[in-house]
Amino acid sequence: MKDDRATRPATYARFAPPGLICLLASGCRGAQSALDPAGEEAEAIHSLLVVTAVGGGIIWLLVVGLILYARRRDRPVLDVERAQKLISWGGVAFPTVILLALLSYALWKMPVARPWFDPGDAPMTVEVTGEQFWWRVRYLDQEGEPVFETANEILMPIGERVRFLLKAHDVIHSFWIPALGGKMDMIPGRTNVFSLKATRTGIYRGPCAEFCGSSHALMNLTARVLEPQAFREWFESRSAPAGRPAETEGQAAFLSHGCGACHSVRGTQARGQVGPDLTAFAKRERLGAGVAANTQENRVRFIRNPDGLKPGVRMPAFSMVPDSELEAIATYLGGLE
Ligand code: CUA
Repeated sequence: MKDDRATRPATYARFAPPGLICLLASGCRGAQSALDPAGEEAEAIHSLLVVTAVGGGIIWLLVVGLILYARRRDRPVLDVERAQKLISWGGVAFPTVILLALLSYALWKMPVARPWFDPGDAPMTVEVTGEQFWWRVRYLDQEGEPVFETANEILMPIGERVRFLLKAHDVIHSFWIPALGGKMDMIPGRTNVFSLKATRTGIYRGPCAEFCGSSHALMNLTARVLEPQAFREWFESRSAPAGRPAETEGQAAFLSHGCGACHSVRGTQARGQVGPDLTAFAKRERLGAGVAANTQENRVRFIRNPDGLKPGVRMPAFSMVPDSELEAIATYLGGLE
């Protein structure tokens, strides 16, 4: 009888590498992947990566092939003249041509990929300021005056170049939405200019890319790329004068516990500028710059003890607020459309 255990290791060896590649490649897709580009800059960077990796791969294969060939005992011995020719062509000419071609390609791609590219005539400018540990986002008019403010999310139209003014309030942060384009640092005391043009609608994620403190890894930005019409509707709804939201028990508790000293909610007396703007908070999928899902339970947890979800956060704990009022505030925030 044939023992199938003997053939098993051979079967594993045959199927493991493709399986491993599939497993690793599944990590290439998703909302935060530079290998799944959804913007003009990201596409340029991606094609640069593919072309240089293939070019480098060809050289590597050739060199490995030559080494293996040189180790063969049965290879014919070359005379000096033929050996010199082999070195001149294989060792000098071939790498020079390939490397020059790759360099030319990279230089040709550079004007598109370089992140400091400033389109003076972009129709829209968004100012993003890195804070410990969240993102202040302001949409500016043609004169550079803020039209409205939001936090931790950027909405942008597909196919239109958006200009970003990048700033930092406290320490250095770094702005990076891998699926849309390359990154740029946000440095206190200066403004870096940068632009992106999205080519696919969807929701993309941007991590802070510069260590900025204990919650650096918990500082994420959401970029939503919308059809131009949907974007205009959102922009107009945010820039129109606000109606008065219904006065609820939650709103009263929000104001009486002083939340409005740090946070703004458009159309109310809450006009604080220290913390994130909470207008239309219900539309955000995550809270605390991506730290948890925006659910009633998590809102209560965050207000009661923000440090528990986000170490080092500037917001103080509100554990002295009675549970019923915490619930009411969280309900109020969950209803801000
Ligand atoms: Cu902000 Cu790291």
